[in-house]
Amino acid sequence: MNDNSTVNTGRNALRQPAERLYQDELAALFEFDPYPKPPGWRLSPRAVRAFIAGTDGLPVAKWASKKAKSRNKTVIARKFYGDDVLIDRCIVTLLGNRGLMLVGEPGTAKSMLSELLTAAICGDSTNTIQGTAGTTEDQIKYSWNYALLLAEGPSMRALVRAPLYVGMDQGLPVRFEEITRCPPEIQDTLVSVLSEKVLVVPELKGEDRHLLAAPGFNIIATANIRDRGVHEMSSALKRRFNFETVSPIRDLRLEVELVTREAERLLGGALAPVTCPPGVIELLVTTFQDLREGVTADGVQVEKPTAVMSTAEAVAVALSAGLDAYYYGDKTLTPAAIARHLGGTVMKDNPDDLKKVRHYFDTAVRGRASSGGVWDEYFKARRAL
Ligand SMILES: Nc1ncnc2c1ncn2[C@@H]1O[C@H](COP(=O)(O)OP(=O)(O)O)[C@@H](O)[C@H]1O
Ligand SMILES: [Mg+2]
Repeated sequence: MNDNSTVNTGRNALRQPAERLYQDELAALFEFDPYPKPPGWRLSPRAVRAFIAGTDGLPVAKWASKKAKSRNKTVIARKFYGDDVLIDRCIVTLLGNRGLMLVGEPGTAKSMLSELLTAAICGDSTNTIQGTAGTTEDQIKYSWNYALLLAEGPSMRALVRAPLYVGMDQGLPVRFEEITRCPPEIQDTLVSVLSEKVLVVPELKGEDRHLLAAPGFNIIATANIRDRGVHEMSSALKRRFNFETVSPIRDLRLEVELVTREAERLLGGALAPVTCPPGVIELLVTTFQDLREGVTADGVQVEKPTAVMSTAEAVAVALSAGLDAYYYGDKTLTPAAIARHLGGTVMKDNPDDLKKVRHYFDTAVRGRASSGGVWDEYFKARRAL
């Protein structure tokens, strides 16, 4: 943990950073990792991949060596669903001297991937810059403690380190979230740092004036492509990053598994466990995939809403429907509760989106309702939209 960290390390935090949430997994990987580690990294690239993609039910000791006999039975769970080759390419990029830029639609787990990568590489995912329209250079590089600055002039003591300074100084990857929300001149602060690997502090003298990046330093940036309020990125900056596009999950089974797991985890954390009858999460995920693609699995054309139908939004609907079932229903997740909470996701930018979802119910859902079961219940709840 760096000294800029503001994370509540108590057990009562509403959300734990990845290195805390998965501390047992990280400790086991650290203990058994048999592979070479790059300078400044806590784990080998293979162990970083295992942390993100899981060990297929294998205890870490067995993953590290087939002949291992250990009482440590920690298994690494899969956290990122989708392209494992993408994970490898991200890790390889971070080993080189270019930054890693994760781009894609909102809710495709770009932030999650950047958090998992930094948690595994250095055990600290909190050295993060959050890009906004109001982000300043001070919040990226460093600023001053003005009382000390006035009393003693510029000195290391008066310097207030921001994430870029911390990352270069300590050899950590720096996360830059939503970089394209920052105006281009602020984004370009990174250009010289990424090529020269040195940060100049003109106010200081002697050695302190030039901060040379320690091994392990790199930048992982994320950017949403289909969002309002984003800026262009300069070509100079683009050239200093390798771009990786993160796509929505296409496989129905995988997405169902993920939404089920996330919804259970969040409802458990909210102390509102509900039973989830078979088929209900599948119905929710099918709705999202149909609306995302504009066509159902059986070939029925449907209109795509302008709202983003991401996995993250599907998890949010499952969570709301679950809380609804727990506090107002009989603690069972129903298709009707899903239908009730779908509107809140879809109705964001465009009033026409709700019409598109109603149309989806009148065509695709009506078609499936004839076979009875959860789809029939879902269709009957369409008035809740
Ligand atoms: N491919 C995926 N693998 C695992 N989780 C995913 C995936 N796609 C979406 N999610 C879910 O979406 C949530 C939000 O993703 P987030 O990282 O905030 O998205 P982004 O930064 O791309 O907008 C994640 O915490 C996870 O629950
Ligand atoms: Mg994000």
